[in-house]
Amino acid sequence: MSLHIYQSSASLAEGLASWIVGNINLVLRTQGRYSFALSGGSTPKLLYQLMASEYAQAADWSKVDFFFGDERFVSMDDERNNGKMALDLFLHPLGIKDEQIFAIPTNSSPQNSVSAYQKTLEEYFHSDDTHSFDFVLLGMGADAHTLSLFPGGVLPDDKAALVAHTFNKADQLDRITLLPSIINYAKTIAFMVQGKEKSDTLKRVLHDTHDPDKYPAQLILPASGQLMWFADEAAAGAIIL
Ligand code: 6PG
Repeated sequence: MSLHIYQSSASLAEGLASWIVGNINLVLRTQGRYSFALSGGSTPKLLYQLMASEYAQAADWSKVDFFFGDERFVSMDDERNNGKMALDLFLHPLGIKDEQIFAIPTNSSPQNSVSAYQKTLEEYFHSDDTHSFDFVLLGMGADAHTLSLFPGGVLPDDKAALVAHTFNKADQLDRITLLPSIINYAKTIAFMVQGKEKSDTLKRVLHDTHDPDKYPAQLILPASGQLMWFADEAAAGAIIL
């Protein structure tokens, strides 16, 4: 695990954008496609805008396939939809083609969405249970949730499940979320965390006893890949004191 701390949210976004683009170029030297699972929420917005502007020519984005770590179960034209946020700030400005974008559907029922995305992932990764995404970007809430895995939540018994339907009490929304069963097989998993309100949580997640029921971010344990934390000084304040 590596921790990368930046003075501000702006330098955090810049540093992470630079790392991501460098990794895309490195990985594409030895394979034809790069699979990138995007985070939702507000933290990655500046990062996405940077990659679509300053870094638009810095990588061959036509070889990158985009997935989503989780989705709020609202329509694609709802401002709360993570897919809409990424399309508006990142994917459409970069001219990413529809066939490169694997959004989590929210136009039917949560269960149909789970089944559909499970099928999408199985087909893309050819049911390979040893390797998944080249890169997963994750956020973390002040309650230590990540993706849409919330404290006290119950993971499915089905070990073959890669996707689940959860419910977020905070926003009273049904959620569709990827599970550790696929996330933890990524080559690189990076958390992006900013803001003072998350500093105590970040310290507990990294240094307290392992209690993923209380701290779902602790469910993220790469099987063989690398785990990276990118944070601004405000979020890392309780660690660097
Ligand atoms: C979501 C995200 C979620 C997010 C954290 C942090 O749908 O909200 O996927 O897991 O990463 O809640 O959110 P902020 O970046 O808005 O603090």
